Amino acid sequence: MFTVYKEKDYASLSRRAAAILSAEIIHNPKAVLGLATGTTPIETYQNLVESYREGLLDFSKISSVNLDEYCNLSPDHPQSYRYFMNYHLFDRVNINKKNTFVPDGMTEGKEAAARYDALIESLGGIDLQVLGIGQNGHIGFNEPGEFIADTHMVTLSESTIKANARLFASPDEVPKSAVTMGLRGILSAKKILLLASGKNKKQALEGALYGPITADLPASVLQLHPKVIVITDCDIALQKR
Ligand code: F6R
Repeated sequence: MFTVYKEKDYASLSRRAAAILSAEIIHNPKAVLGLATGTTPIETYQNLVESYREGLLDFSKISSVNLDEYCNLSPDHPQSYRYFMNYHLFDRVNINKKNTFVPDGMTEGKEAAARYDALIESLGGIDLQVLGIGQNGHIGFNEPGEFIADTHMVTLSESTIKANARLFASPDEVPKSAVTMGLRGILSAKKILLLASGKNKKQALEGALYGPITADLPASVLQLHPKVIVITDCDIALQKR
């Protein structure tokens, strides 16, 4: 079940997303937040930092679990997702870093992945999961082709490597694999906040919202979730469902 907010631009998308996250943090000071990296949530996180500085938010009892991490980038590598989260959010608010979790991209294997799912369960599950969407419809790094339930290692698609190359010195430096929460992990979140910004996301978003549920467009599984809030600045045609 989708509630869709169409915003005029990225700034208002980011304000609304931060408002929804803030409401969660205020209502539930011990909330477990599922967090995403990428370009889309950056201003949302900046807005949260501002609200924290104004004394409106307290992160001291909040926990977080991130969706994904590149393989073989150490946590202090500037393009690792752990580094991203520290830089954009964790180092700027009063969250206890011990309560922030990012999948382990340095330890390969099924056990490491299974530990991440067990960890999420031990936290009591995710209260609010933030998601971006890839141009190819991926969520987390669940790439088109196969629905995989649990946290797993994934070979990144050419399209994802190309899209993410902008953040690296050259496309060759983009890791070819990653660890990602699986679709069961994502769908188990109590609420989902899907953010899509920019013309290049329009097609994937429309497919996710209104197309068939298919492994060719992993975000389409969100149609199975009872509570998804979508915020977008894409000019999508809203349809009744
Ligand atoms: C990041 C993630 C990815 C991104 C997606 C969109 O943790 O899980 O699914 O959300 O690739 O990335 P941006 O926001 O850079 O367009």
